Amino acid sequence: MNKSFLIKELFANIKTTGAVTFSSKSLVNKMLSFANFKGAKTIIELGGGDGSITRGIISRMDKDATLLVFEISEPFCRNLKREFPQKNVQIINDSAENMDKYLEGKDADLILSSLPFSLIPKESRNKIYSKTRSSLGENGFFIQICYSYLLKFQFANYFKNIKTAFTLKNFPPAFILICK
Ligand SMILES: C[S@@+](CC[C@H](N)C(=O)[O-])C[C@H]1O[C@@H](n2cnc3c(N)ncnc32)[C@H](O)[C@@H]1O
Repeated sequence: MNKSFLIKELFANIKTTGAVTFSSKSLVNKMLSFANFKGAKTIIELGGGDGSITRGIISRMDKDATLLVFEISEPFCRNLKREFPQKNVQIINDSAENMDKYLEGKDADLILSSLPFSLIPKESRNKIYSKTRSSLGENGFFIQICYSYLLKFQFANYFKNIKTAFTLKNFPPAFILICK
């Protein structure tokens, strides 16, 4: 699928995608620089989109790690499946609210998200926050990119320790919340 198709899909579904463009390479590199991939065996991505973060995760993760990517858009999922056919990468066309159903009792070491939480209805949002918290292992990290610093105050109900970073090298400029 070409890039212009993916951008059209992003715009056509702005109420659920919540973005006017995909994450820049610079933002992805900065986000993933806060994740320790060494020894992380179960990794979750929330909101795969065009695969810009997925690509970065796959290039960094251990060969025997498993990546579960949640994405509600069917066209995005079809594209992700084509681009990432590896056996240890599962593209799941389901909402992040249901992440626990696919973990088969395992804990996640890393959860990396670009979900547009400000557009997700409160009930679903709280479900995702709570499942993210309960799906993470003891030493796990949840890392979120977002355009509003205010999200930190919602996350604070679920995570004791939240560090923030910021980059201008994205449109729009973005925050990174690193939560534990
Ligand atoms: C801001 S886009 C980010 C896309 C890409 N990861 C990037 O960084 O450019 C957010 C993505 O989350 C997806 N999404 C929105 N709500 C979701 C949900 N509840 N569960 C899974 N994916 C969701 C959208 O379809 C969209 O592809």
